[in-house]
This record gives sequence, C-alpha cells and structure tokens, in this order.
Amino acid sequence: MKIAVAGTGYVGLVTGVCLAEKGHIVSCVDIDERKVALMSSGISPIYEPGLDELMVKNLNRLNFTTHYREAYKDADVIFIGVGTPEKHDGSANLTYVYEVAEQIAESIEKDCVVVVKSTVPIGTNDKIEDLIKTKLVHNVNVHIASNPEFLAQGTAVRDTLHPARIVIGVEDQDPGKVLKEVYNKFDAPVVLTNRKSAEMIKYASNDFLALKISFINEIANLCEIIGANVEDVALGMGYDSRIGNRFLNSGIGYGGSCFPKDTKALHWLANFHDYELKTIKAAIDVNENQKLKLIKKSRKYFDSLKGLSVAVLGLTFKPGTDDLREAPSLVNIPIMLEDGANVKAWDPVGIENFQRLHPNGVSYCHSIEETLKDTDICFIFTEWDEVKDFDLSKYNELMRNPIILDGRNCYDLLNVRESKIIYDSIGRETVNTLEVSLV
Ligand code: UGA
Repeated sequence: MKIAVAGTGYVGLVTGVCLAEKGHIVSCVDIDERKVALMSSGISPIYEPGLDELMVKNLNRLNFTTHYREAYKDADVIFIGVGTPEKHDGSANLTYVYEVAEQIAESIEKDCVVVVKSTVPIGTNDKIEDLIKTKLVHNVNVHIASNPEFLAQGTAVRDTLHPARIVIGVEDQDPGKVLKEVYNKFDAPVVLTNRKSAEMIKYASNDFLALKISFINEIANLCEIIGANVEDVALGMGYDSRIGNRFLNSGIGYGGSCFPKDTKALHWLANFHDYELKTIKAAIDVNENQKLKLIKKSRKYFDSLKGLSVAVLGLTFKPGTDDLREAPSLVNIPIMLEDGANVKAWDPVGIENFQRLHPNGVSYCHSIEETLKDTDICFIFTEWDEVKDFDLSKYNELMRNPIILDGRNCYDLLNVRESKIIYDSIGRETVNTLEVSLV
C-alpha cells in the first residue's frame, strides 16, 4: 500500500520504517530539511537501537520529504505521528496535529484513510474529522481512524514489529478493513473498537503503568521505614499473574515524554468534565516527590552539598535513549549546583542533550572512573549497563568518600555488603550505615 507518515519523531519515524519493512511504500514527511536530508541517507536523527540498520535495509521503499502535498495527494493511508507536548496547564497541545490535518485536507486527491497515531485526548479524532471534511479541497472520501502507538523508547523497533496488540478505533467498517490490510503481516491480536475507546485505551494503558510505578515507589518508601526489601516484595507480588512482574521496579520515579504528560492530560480532561481522577492524581504527586528522593537521602550524610565534589551517573530518563525529557537528572542537578556542589556527570549518550540545556556548571566525563575520581558522593539516576556492570570495589578506590545513592537499584545488596561502600538505594536497607559520620 502507499502510505504517508506525518512527523518523524519516535512514533512517526519508527512507524514509517517498520511499515516499509513489512513491504509498504512509505513517504515520511517532516518540516525540518536538515532532518530529511539525514534520513534520506539512512541516518536516524533520533538515537534508537536498530533503527538505522532497518532504515538502510528499506531505503528502496522509503522516501523522506518536506513536500507534504506530494506525499499526501495519492496515499492510501496517511498516519499522523506528530508530537502532542504538554501545555502549562497540563493539557495536551494539539497545534501540530491540527496543522497536519489542514495540510492533509488541502492535499488529498483520492479517497484515503487518515490514521491518528499521536496520543490525543479523547474526542480529538472527531475534531480532526470535522476539520478535514470542512477544509477538503478535492471531492474525495476520507475516513478517520484512531490507531494508538504503544512503543517504548529504546525498544521502539522491536515493540513496533512485534506489538502486544493493535488497537483500531473506527466509526464504520471500511477504514477498519483498510487498517487490517496495513497490518496483515503483523502477528498481534487486533482490538477493533470505536474511536473514543481507542483514544482512551492509550491513556488508560500509560496511566495504569505510571500508577503501577508510583504504587511500588510508595511501597518502597514504606519498606525503607519498616525494614522490608521492596525487590523481594515486588518479586512476591509479581508471581501473581493478576498483578504481573513488569513495571514493578521502584526508583526515583518515572520520566520520559509519555507518562508525565499522559497522566497530567487525562487528569486535566477529567477535571474539565468535573470529574477528579483520584488515582491518577496520586500517581502524579507520588512521582513528583520521588524524583527528590536521593537529594533528601543526601541530607543524611551532608547538611548541604556546598563545596563537595559530586558524581552523577546517568542523565537520560532511562537507558537505551538519549532523551532527557522529564529525567530526574534535570530536577536534581540544578539543586546540587544551587547548593554549591562541583558536579561531574557521565552518560553514554545523553551528555550532548544535557549540555544544550545546562551549558554551564557541570563537568562532563568520558568514563565512570573519571567521574568518580576524588568525589564525596555519587548519585545514580539511570541504570545503564555500564553502571550495573561496574566493579564495586572501584567506588572505594576512586572516591574520596564512597557514598553511593542509587536511584535505580543497580546492585545486589549481597555484593554491596562485601565492598566497603556506603550504599543507599530505594526501598532497601542502607548498607554499611555505621560509617556514616561525615556530616
Ligand atoms: C512508555 C510506555 O511504556 C509505552 O508503552 C508507550 O507507548 C510510550 O510510553 C508512549 O506513550 O509513547 P517510554 O516512555 O518510552 O514508554 O518508557 P518506559 O520504558 O515506559 O519508562 C518510562 C519511565 O518509567 C522511565 O523513567 C523508567 O525508568 C520508569 N520505570 C519503568 C520505572 O521507574 N519502573 C519500572 O518498573 C518501569
């Protein structure tokens, strides 16, 4: 089929490339000429494992362009995959989605299905339909379908090629048939429903996962107080298939471009309809506090970080991505700097993006060893493999005071006990607390 995709961020680009991999002819549209030139030569502008290889492999079926009219005019299916960032009040900003909808209306010259992949508030597909139908230039039939995306950054290619489910929201049968054809080479259950339910499935899924994380983080906080071990608690809970063992890792809170934005957007939408989503509100509140967990822990060791040398391992919101959106590092490092700390930071792929946001004040290092050298305290914000595989004895060798505050529970407590480090993680006992006499 001839497919056009609007937007080449995580959702748009990965969708386009994976549809080409399944044999479709795909035109990806973006307004940024520099990005289009890069992608045309088989280079992905986003860091996503496996994506460049798949782009190069399918370049004969892929086209990247800034000329939306050319891409849309005779497409069978047009996917909208542009961003819906958070507005100041927590609601979703739909400017880009509506801009694309207008461009589609003025461009299409044959019947087609417009598929909304971007995460949009419930009811937006209806508005897109009205907008496109009132602004159509040519006399064609256009159907609007909701087809939310469930890929996660870092595993986007795998998630898209092997989805857990394909959700299709339509108001009549024809677009549903077209979308089933688009996905006929994907091996996944299809949930066929109406558009509002499809839109809600996306928000409810993300918000449930966010709630699951905030729930285990609260349990972790209580575990610390009463002396239980949250990892054992999560393990014991997870064997119950009604609960499941995934997304029960406690830490310094969820970040990224999706959970923070989608929890706030659904909460805002409910409020707008005079309904308070209390569980989602709790997930948001717990997460805001959790992000400051390590700074609060640091006060046990030092009243202030003033004049101290601080090591930071990991800047991105999770491993496998260079994305910093809503990353705990963004909240914590400014507090350290405000305290007057000398901050040294390491991340395998996130430094460039962090540097753009914080051009001054932080020294960036090429290795974990260089970061730890002569520091007084170390904060772990991202569970990169390099951190998890790091030889624990080196903390002791390299740091002035081997105090490790681990926001991602990277190490087994048994191994930590054998080393001489002071190790404070989330929801687990602090190891080697006796040596705490540094304040
Ligand atoms: C999330 C969802 O997992 C995807 O299914 C969804 O499609 C995507 O949002 C989206 O809406 O586009 P993503 O934001 O890429 O994907 O990342 P996740 O792997 O879900 O992690 C989000 C945050 O939760 C990270 O900061 C991670 O560290 C944290 N997390 C995750 C935990 O703290 N504990 C866990 O057990 C799992």
